[in-house]
Amino acid sequence: MARLEAVLPELVEELGRVGVEPPKGILLYGAPGTGKTLIAKAVAHEAHATFIRMSGSELVHKFIGEGAGLVRELFQLARERAPAIVFIDEIDAVGSMRTNDGTSGSAEVQRTLMQLLAEMDGFDNRGDVRIMAATNRVDMLDPALLRPGRFDRLIEIPLPDPDSRLEILKIHSRNMHMDDVSLEVVSAMTDKATGAELQAICREAGMMAVRREAISVGMVDFTIAVKKVRLDKMSDTRMYI
Ligand SMILES: Nc1ncnc2c1ncn2[C@@H]1O[C@H](COP(=O)(O)OP(=O)(O)O)[C@@H](O)[C@H]1O
Ligand SMILES: [Mg+2]
Repeated sequence: MARLEAVLPELVEELGRVGVEPPKGILLYGAPGTGKTLIAKAVAHEAHATFIRMSGSELVHKFIGEGAGLVRELFQLARERAPAIVFIDEIDAVGSMRTNDGTSGSAEVQRTLMQLLAEMDGFDNRGDVRIMAATNRVDMLDPALLRPGRFDRLIEIPLPDPDSRLEILKIHSRNMHMDDVSLEVVSAMTDKATGAELQAICREAGMMAVRREAISVGMVDFTIAVKKVRLDKMSDTRMYI
């Protein structure tokens, strides 16, 4: 146990007691930046549970050769700290369908996935340990993960609609001094933007105002910020279609 806590100290947060009885495994899926990680943290906070977060890509890329062992330790820690929520972010990194590329990493990734499935099968619903996961690519997931008793509840986190965009813009501009800014208009200009992009637009608008040495953020700053964030997105090679 000590080893896990040593390598992942920031991932273990004491949060108290779980009060609800959700399904065994909840999988959040949707485009990057739609707030999946944010939601998982909020759920753990609301449930007063210990929140144990592990990223699938870290399991695969950072802890090479240790993936399966870390998964075992993660669940052991969750049982010790129950009530707890185990959150596996970017689960596609460990749980994608088998590829036939024959890379040496694959066998190791398979072992990590097998361990995860074994752990999920090994505890029962009425226990005080819940598991959540998030992915941008639900279509890529190994169907074994989605069998009953594993991730048996899939929740799509969609792109925000105009009203939700407005609420998100309000949240991320709440500490800004604004002059004559219509966030409704900004919301109308940001079709298909994710929560993360809306946050970036607010930050960028603030920086524009600072650059032109204004005392408050104006509509012109938001207009430029929207264009900039949209351009950044278009040039982002990680863009998902
Ligand atoms: N619905 C939302 N409301 C407010 N902020 C959001 C929302 N969705 C995303 N964000 C902002 O974008 C950031 C990144 O979101 P994140 O949870 O990492 O997305 P995902 O895990 O789906 O890629 C969050 O920390 C938050 O600041
Ligand atoms: Mg995330």
